[in-house]
Amino acid sequence: MDACMFYILFFSMFLTIKALESNCPTVKCSHDGPDIRFPFRVAGRQPQHCGQPGFDLVCKENTTMIDFPSYGPLVVISISYDFRKLSLLDPKNCVHEVFLNLNPSGTPFRYYYLLKNFTYLNCSTRLSPSLNEVSCLSDSRNHVYTVESSFHLPFSCRQLKTIPIPFSYSPYLADNSFGLGLTWSLPGCEDCESRGGSCVFQSKEGLKTGCPRIAQDKGFSVVHLLSSGTGSMILIILVFIFVMTTMISIKVCFRQKLKVDKAAENENLL
Ligand SMILES: *[C@@H]1O[C@H](CO)[C@@H](O)[C@H](O)[C@H]1NC(C)=O
Ligand SMILES: *[C@@H]1O[C@H](CO)[C@@H](O)[C@H](O)[C@H]1NC(C)=O
Ligand SMILES: *[C@@H]1O[C@H](CO)[C@@H](O)[C@H](O)[C@H]1NC(C)=O
Repeated sequence: MDACMFYILFFSMFLTIKALESNCPTVKCSHDGPDIRFPFRVAGRQPQHCGQPGFDLVCKENTTMIDFPSYGPLVVISISYDFRKLSLLDPKNCVHEVFLNLNPSGTPFRYYYLLKNFTYLNCSTRLSPSLNEVSCLSDSRNHVYTVESSFHLPFSCRQLKTIPIPFSYSPYLADNSFGLGLTWSLPGCEDCESRGGSCVFQSKEGLKTGCPRIAQDKGFSVVHLLSSGTGSMILIILVFIFVMTTMISIKVCFRQKLKVDKAAENENLL
C-alpha cells in the first residue's frame, strides 16, 4: 500500500508541477487592460520562462505599468503584438520629461516613431515668443525649450541635452500620450506575428527566441503551444490526465490490497 501511495503522490505532483510550469496564461491587469503575453510577463502571475528579460510589466491598482530605471513607471495603454508597439502614457503628464530622461538604449525598446535630434535648453529668461516653452518643465524662473540641434545657444541658456526624440515641443499636442510609443525586436522574431506566427523561446533553457508557425512546423514546438492561447487547453488535458492517473492508481492499489487481504484470510483459514 505504501508503494501505491507513493506512486499516486509522485504522479500527481509530477503532473501538477509540469502543468503549472509549462503553462503561460495570457493575463490582464484589469478587465479592459491589454493582454499580457510573451515577450511580456507579469512577475508573480506568469512563470519566468513566459517572458523575456526586460519585458516585465507590473499591475498596480488595475493599471498596467512598465518601469524604466532611467525614468520610472509609465502606464501601458495598449500592446500591439502585430506591430510590436507599446503605447504608453506618462502618469506625470509630461512627455518631454520622459524624452529628456528615458534612455531606451539600455532596454530592449526603442521609439516607435522616426527620430530627429533636438536640443533641450534651460534658460533663465524667456526666449522669442515664436518659441514655446515646455510648460511642464518650466516655471517662472526657468524656461525649458526644445530647439533644432543647429540652434545658436542664447546667452541666458544652458544646454541640457541633445538627443534623438520623435518631435519637439508643441502646445497643440495636448494629448500627452502622443508620441510615447515604443517598439521592440527579438532576434529571429522580426515581423513574426504579422506573418501569422508567434514569437516564443526556441528552447526553455536558453533565451534564444524564434518564430515557429504551426502550419509549417512539422516538429510542432511544444514550447510554442504552451506559450500560446492553447496553453489553457493543455492545462485542462493535463488535469484530466492527472485525475485519470489518480483514479486508475487508486483502483489498482485497492485491488492489490484486496488480493493481499484475501490471501491473508485464506492463510488464516488454513
Ligand atoms: C480594480 O478593479 C476591481 C474590479 O473591477 C474593483 O473592484 C477595484 O475596486 C479596482 N481597484 C482599484 C484600486 O481601482
Ligand atoms: C543625432 O546626433 C548624433 C550625434 O551627432 C548622431 O550620431 C545621430 O545619428 C543623430 N540622430 C539622428 C536621428 O539624426
Ligand atoms: C533648469 O535649471 C534650474 C536652475 O539650475 C534647475 O533648478 C532646473 O531643475 C532645470 N530644469 C531642468 C528641466 O533641468
